Amino acid sequence: MRGRIIITGATGSMGAAATLALAGQGHSIVMACRNIVKAGTIRDSILVRVPDAEIDIKLLDLSSMDSVCEFVNDLGTEPIDALFNNAGTISRSYSITSDGLENTFAVNYFGPYLLTRLLVPRMREDARIVNMVSLTCRFVTVDENSLRPEPKDFSQLGTYARSKQALLRFSMEFSRRYPGICVNLADPGIVNSNMISMGRWFDPLADRLFRPFCKSPDKGVKPALNALSSSAKDRYFVGSHSKSIPARFLDPEMDLILWQETESILSSFIPRICN
Ligand SMILES: NC(=O)c1ccc[n+]([C@@H]2O[C@H](COP(=O)([O-])OP(=O)(O)OC[C@H]3O[C@@H](n4cnc5c(N)ncnc54)[C@H](OP(=O)(O)O)[C@@H]3O)[C@@H](O)[C@H]2O)c1
Repeated sequence: MRGRIIITGATGSMGAAATLALAGQGHSIVMACRNIVKAGTIRDSILVRVPDAEIDIKLLDLSSMDSVCEFVNDLGTEPIDALFNNAGTISRSYSITSDGLENTFAVNYFGPYLLTRLLVPRMREDARIVNMVSLTCRFVTVDENSLRPEPKDFSQLGTYARSKQALLRFSMEFSRRYPGICVNLADPGIVNSNMISMGRWFDPLADRLFRPFCKSPDKGVKPALNALSSSAKDRYFVGSHSKSIPARFLDPEMDLILWQETESILSSFIPRICN
């Protein structure tokens, strides 16, 4: 497959690695980023290595549902072949976005949810979606009350893990509703990126002890690249292979409850473009 691929968080460690790899394969890339200047620098460095790369940069702040809508409106009419929901954050402390959502959930779940829903009408029939999840998903449970955590429910890792499991459950419900689109999950493992800094006093120590054993971004993004080049669907890509979605996550009833609850929370944004 060659085509137009949207990569969120293309300024990040794995996002930039994916942009280089996919542009090098001849795809036309849309870098969907909140920092346009940083994106420009990355694009310039890729153009040195791949002079005929087709790379467009568009503003997208996933913590703002208005920004998601504006991004989609600004995208033009050219069909989309693939969406890589790669951007993510791990907020150190509890904070609320301008939409009244907890920040980690806004960036890792509500933003990608809305973006994906809004892009459906522009996707080719056999389009591919890859959602970046995390091995932390397996240590938490998620229900409809998880989507808007109160300060007392917040923890840096716990909220991050729940937002990623919510994204995983969204992927499965989406796949049931849009069977023509191939949705897959990618789990990069533990990767040496900004993401794994906890913003705590012990970071320098952890960096020395821990980072040397983490994967490089090039290696960490491989499962996602494998998923993007595969015509499989509903698979969990990890390491160099893919497997069925782990049984612990199979709960279609909860997937549906979360979908409906999310629609209700985002009801003022979804009718703008979605059917
Ligand atoms: N690193 C790991 O060990 C690991 C493990 C499991 C899963 N993951 C997942 O892999 C994905 C990529 O992470 P990474 O390790 O490459 O981290 P990273 O280098 O920190 O990249 C994160 C990317 O997300 C972008 N981003 C953050 N907040 C955003 C917002 N509000 N709107 C739009 N973009 C936003 C960042 O933009 P800026 O450049 O502007 O900051 C950056 O481009 C994430 O979804 C992460 O959760 C990572």
